[in-house]
Amino acid sequence: MTKSTKTISLLITLFIITTFSSTPSKILGRKVGGRTPIKDVKTNKKIQELGKYCVEEYNHSLKKYNHIMQKDNIEFLNFVEVLEAETQIVSGIKYYLKISTFTLGMVKIFDAELVIKSWEKKKELIHFSPFNYAIN
Ligand SMILES: *[C@@H]1O[C@H](CO)[C@@H](O)[C@H](O)[C@H]1NC(C)=O
Repeated sequence: MTKSTKTISLLITLFIITTFSSTPSKILGRKVGGRTPIKDVKTNKKIQELGKYCVEEYNHSLKKYNHIMQKDNIEFLNFVEVLEAETQIVSGIKYYLKISTFTLGMVKIFDAELVIKSWEKKKELIHFSPFNYAIN
């Protein structure tokens, strides 16, 4: 990539960010922007299913990565449960999930962000990383 194409793609990214963050403050009568915590997460079947989906997607990307890197000590995750969840109305609904997983005899907590665009019925895992106790 040349320097100018990098600049252009950065500008496009910034444009997309500005465009999405300046969507009308209300969509379908619900407030845009704020995060809403979900109560009774542990008994919420839909949220638990979404959490499992995030872990499956993560496993999936690990498999692809393994295919390229030829590593054999990869840590696939087993889903345990979603511990906490918040939603946010963006262009669709964004879910912030704190997920408990199990791998190599250890419990590991991850933060996941998932966007569901209901009109496309499409789920997209946009973030998955170890939960950082030091920061939170
Ligand atoms: C992740 O992959 C491993 C290995 O294939 C499997 O045992 C585990 O059940 C998978 N986890 C989920 C949540 O599907």
